[in-house]
Amino acid sequence: MTTAQTIPLIGPGIDRVDGPLKVTGAAHYPSDFSFPNLAYAALVQSTIAAGYIRHIDTTATLAAPGVLAVITHENAGQLGQGPVGNLGAPPPPPLQNNHILHYGQHIAVVVAETLEQATAASRLLTVDYDTTEALFDLTNPKAEVLTNQWGLDKQRGDVAPNMAIAPVRVEATYTTPDETTNPLGLFSTVAIWSGDTLTVHDTTQYPVHVRATLAAAFGVSEEKIRILVPFVGGSFGAGLRPWPHVILAALAAKRVNRPVKLTLTRPQMFTSIGHRPSTVQHIKIGASNDGTLIAIAHEGTSSLGMEDNNIEPVSAGTAAAYACPHVSTRDRQVRLNIPSPGSMRAPGEAEGNFALECALDELAYKLKMDPLELRLRNDAQIHPKSGLPWSSRALRECYKQGAELFNWSLRTPAPRSMRDRNFLVGYGMAAVSYHWYQPPCQARVSLFRDGTAYMRSAATDIGTGTYTVMTQLTAELLGLPRDHVRFDLGDTEMPPAPNQGGSGLVNSLGSAVHAACQQLLLAFLDVVSHDIASPLRGCHLEDVTVSGGRLHRKNDPIQGEKYTAILARHGLDELTVDGENTPAQPQKMGIAPAGAFGAKFVEVRVDPDLGLIRVTRVVSAIDGGRILNEKLAASQIIGGAVGGIGMALLEEVVSDAETGRIANATFGDYLVPVNADVPRMDVIFVGESDPLNPMGTKGVGEVGLVGIAAALANAVYHATGKRIRDLPITLDKLLS
Ligand code: MOS
Repeated sequence: MTTAQTIPLIGPGIDRVDGPLKVTGAAHYPSDFSFPNLAYAALVQSTIAAGYIRHIDTTATLAAPGVLAVITHENAGQLGQGPVGNLGAPPPPPLQNNHILHYGQHIAVVVAETLEQATAASRLLTVDYDTTEALFDLTNPKAEVLTNQWGLDKQRGDVAPNMAIAPVRVEATYTTPDETTNPLGLFSTVAIWSGDTLTVHDTTQYPVHVRATLAAAFGVSEEKIRILVPFVGGSFGAGLRPWPHVILAALAAKRVNRPVKLTLTRPQMFTSIGHRPSTVQHIKIGASNDGTLIAIAHEGTSSLGMEDNNIEPVSAGTAAAYACPHVSTRDRQVRLNIPSPGSMRAPGEAEGNFALECALDELAYKLKMDPLELRLRNDAQIHPKSGLPWSSRALRECYKQGAELFNWSLRTPAPRSMRDRNFLVGYGMAAVSYHWYQPPCQARVSLFRDGTAYMRSAATDIGTGTYTVMTQLTAELLGLPRDHVRFDLGDTEMPPAPNQGGSGLVNSLGSAVHAACQQLLLAFLDVVSHDIASPLRGCHLEDVTVSGGRLHRKNDPIQGEKYTAILARHGLDELTVDGENTPAQPQKMGIAPAGAFGAKFVEVRVDPDLGLIRVTRVVSAIDGGRILNEKLAASQIIGGAVGGIGMALLEEVVSDAETGRIANATFGDYLVPVNADVPRMDVIFVGESDPLNPMGTKGVGEVGLVGIAAALANAVYHATGKRIRDLPITLDKLLS
């Protein structure tokens, strides 16, 4: 058969197969779904950060026009806790007691005939609180601290004595703020009960976990619940967990016995679907005079909600980033009265990389060494911990090609040494070693009598291009024209898929698609195994290949026949089979699994009088293994880099120190990069196919964001001589 390995390393950039649906408005996002007799839900959220509800008065709300129900902790009933998924357990179910843990906690849901009525009535609710002391600060000694929650802390060699004798040392503290995930598409849930059967249209990156969570919440079996999510209006990690509002939508629908739609408002998006937690990171690096790393100690502290969990390994990536004999990484989490943090594109690694790659820049200046040279000298050509060869690694090629395209060699080392008219010019760079992720996944494929194929899996496409690359893969692997292939997702009736996250879906779903295509060819060969009319009789998988809708012998392409001919002769309407990816076992193969690598180069121009920073160039050189669709992959890297500019220069959730109220919970006040903030972005893909899955991919969903903040901060230092270790780098920090 055609193996995916024969598809060109960098696949041509075809357009999104779902593009026309999106631009014509035919793509239905969760909030677009409407049903006869639909009712609308509006959330009421806590206006204090810690304490208890003493009394909640629903009289006026219930009397308001159109109101059908008001649900509070007093009448919600018991809701079960959802099970552990790939990212741990979902947040605890809502409205189970009168305890307030953070500002913006859902304390009631109002259901009415129209959205306007529900919203108006929700404002009539009055609540008496008993307020208790709220903890907002990562350094508050009263806050509970969790250590090494995921067992990812690393200890290699003997850090303390070797750090002490290192001839050159840097030590610094870096801080990053809360950032909101807030994709453009408002998160929405539409729930419809029919008896004890529940159908839910939901904004999610993980439909099967939403199903499991709702099953647990309502005590019904998973077979009774169907989650649908054909399109998502951006997500960036916010949809990885089944959040409490999803349960509330289903609860409201059950209560009024009608379909109910619950769409978060823009301010509610800041408190209800996770956010990148704030971090404080201490980092120490010791090196010899020639720049050889001797020891690294990296400790990351991030914020956590009071009764929830969130996987945010901030320092863990440092252990595998460089060839350094003595390394310790430690992660701590501090429980605060804040809305639950959650994954936001490259969770943990975006923040951890900022500290490590800035600290290396500081070390380079101390050594009077080029920052790129410092990284090359300490390149981890084998996996630093296991000593095993990487499954693939082209980071050196990233450095080389990125530096060439960027013209890094034109950089003069001294800060403030490069100018353009009145502007100070700075060049900065950073490296990225992203982790590997390839969870289990299944897919189902049918080949029909009309010669078309239909591949499906309960995965999602949050805008990354899953529809497109899975269509490409299926067409290639079955030897069909692309317009004969339909790929579908976003429905829990399809075979189970993991979360679309951790840059892992192309690896795991692609492998399942690959397996399903193999199973389909096996099924066709099985049908003709004793068929004297078939030139393929007695063939094994390794004897055949596919093209033009036809299976044929490898050694004699004339000997073959069309799928449709086989189906027709045997009186079959279709053949349908399932495929499941077999998770790779890199340790058994004696290799260290590699995610994507990247080298990021950023140029800034800084107005020395105003402190105004303009990003003028960005080059991202990426080793993502085989790139199935260069156009979409480059789009991922560029989108990530825009997020990186936001992280470096603009993004910060500002909360009131008294109440925890978010002061900038609108797109007018919370700044993200707009077109005028984003320069030309160049993306280069280097490297080769990775052996840990049949496509050779490594996933490029997150590597694009990581490293931009550090490269940009390093460029700002080069331009100005001012080291800003606290994100975002705003002009007040630069001028003070
Ligand atoms: Mo990503 S934060 O794994 O959606």
